Amino acid sequence: MCGIIGFIGNDALANILNGLELLEYRGYDSAGLAVRRNSECQSVIYKCQGRVSDLREIAPSNADFSCGIGHTRWATHGGVSDKNAHPHKSGKVTLVHNGIIENYALLKEEFELEDKLVSETDTEVVAALIDKFYKGNPKEAIKRTIKKLKGTFAFVIMFDDIPDTIFAVRNVSPIVVAKTDEQTILASDPAALYAYAKEYYVLGEDLFLTMTPSGYTVEDFDENPVEVQLTKVDWEVSAVDKMGFPYYMAKEIFEQPSCIRRILSNYLLNNEIELGFNGELDKALQSFNRICIVACGTALHAGMMGAQLFKKWCGIPVEIEMASEFIYSDTVLDSDTLFIAVSQSGETIDTLEAMNKAKENGALCLAILNVRGSSISRVADYTLYTDAGPEIAVASTKAYTTQLLIFYLVALKTATVRGKMSEEDVASAIDNLRKVPEAIQTVLGQKDFIHRLAKEVITASDLFMIGRGLDYYVLMEGALKLKEISYIHSEAYASGELKHGPIALISEGTPVIAAVTQTHLIPKSLSNVKEIRARGANVVLLAKNELKGEFSEEYHVIGLPDLEDEYMAFPEIVALQIYCYFVSADKGLDVDKPRNLAKVVTVE
Ligand code: F6R
Repeated sequence: MCGIIGFIGNDALANILNGLELLEYRGYDSAGLAVRRNSECQSVIYKCQGRVSDLREIAPSNADFSCGIGHTRWATHGGVSDKNAHPHKSGKVTLVHNGIIENYALLKEEFELEDKLVSETDTEVVAALIDKFYKGNPKEAIKRTIKKLKGTFAFVIMFDDIPDTIFAVRNVSPIVVAKTDEQTILASDPAALYAYAKEYYVLGEDLFLTMTPSGYTVEDFDENPVEVQLTKVDWEVSAVDKMGFPYYMAKEIFEQPSCIRRILSNYLLNNEIELGFNGELDKALQSFNRICIVACGTALHAGMMGAQLFKKWCGIPVEIEMASEFIYSDTVLDSDTLFIAVSQSGETIDTLEAMNKAKENGALCLAILNVRGSSISRVADYTLYTDAGPEIAVASTKAYTTQLLIFYLVALKTATVRGKMSEEDVASAIDNLRKVPEAIQTVLGQKDFIHRLAKEVITASDLFMIGRGLDYYVLMEGALKLKEISYIHSEAYASGELKHGPIALISEGTPVIAAVTQTHLIPKSLSNVKEIRARGANVVLLAKNELKGEFSEEYHVIGLPDLEDEYMAFPEIVALQIYCYFVSADKGLDVDKPRNLAKVVTVE
């Protein structure tokens, strides 16, 4: 969580503000920056509780600073306040921090720093400690300090007596940096670099990054130079623009057909699934005897669908666990286990720790990630990228559908290499996947109708989603979407479970979305729908178009394209995303930045 930035070049202040806006999805409790001119040693700090737009109000609009650092905060240690906002300054040291220093209280005591502190943050303790150790050699002071730290960090640091220079170090929390002829810019996410450069460097751990007006250098802690390997930016600047949509979430929902097409063209060659790695991964997929899928939130929901596909198509036992629980669980892992971690950001700390644990226990580690070069990719044996482009809205949309698609491809490939599916069946599955982009497009075309239905629940306090089989897993994602962006309490229930307790929550007027897309389950699902109707629920049905007519007298029906059952997840979730989006927008909420959340969760 938290977005950090470092900039050397003309118009540093304006560039830092623009960069912070692109990083704001990482945390938006407070924002701040410290800037200086070539001729000046002391930096000037502007910071406040609130958004980057609030910071814009207090920062001078026409100042010609040449160097600076910035921060957008998701509060952990210390409440949301002006004084707890970053940067923090202690003596000659000014810094911003992404991460958590677990032993900050002990350090404060051990080094008697209390009198030097004005905030309640862990970060300021680090600034004070570096300043205490600083006797003219900045790297020595930083090195001595970070040896004392327990926790995760990316620090971007300036020293009053070293003009035009920014230092950075990291442990777990990411830092990327890019250079052009005019400027050097560092950030916690490549999203802030797209406007400047076509290539960037992902800073490794236990290394020093030094930025000056002539560029940047990287050294290890013994000050030996380190070779810089660049990663190509594979997105256009337009990928981080709203492109005329009122919110990023809307833009990202509408991007899904092209994201799905891109994955299909990346992973299908002559109508065969090509996962890459010169066939090495295909070989590995033949031999394990169980699968363990671990992720958080939306990525976990994609994993749940993936688990069903592996069971159905490959007959392999699958365990699926929340990363936060997995780390401390006794799940059996060995060299016969394929461990799959799913993550949009590739930085979620719980998922990263889970993969470290799996690796230590000898499991083969496969990652399904969106952000190239992210931390999880550096631990995984194999990474399959969703290449959905930057997802800026905090609520995941295109990340989910692209993760789903990768699961379909891996499960089909596994079934193929194990001889569990005939060539014809795989070819037919691929045909079905090729129909997905158009099916999503059709659902997008129904946005006005879905919007009308969404209007009816904006004052609701609860909304339930019910379904059986694959529908249930899609609805879990739908319910998460609704609660996170509309603040309406929402849960998904397997329809058959309703009678075992949850039906007590249904009363006159309770809104319920019921999905009935799984043909063999329709009669059973419909009787459950009738049970809640009898108790007064207002039901919206999600059903295939071919069945729409049958139900439309009795219910509001969102008709979905008639794909085969296994592929209905795609149009179904897109209908739910649109629904949730409009509920949030019509309630006048900040759709892209829901309260209390951050896009990248780098704390346990
Ligand atoms: C919900 C959402 C979160 C993330 C979760 C994992 O819309 O986005 O639930 O899915 O925090 O994040 P990643 O995928 O980056 O590991």
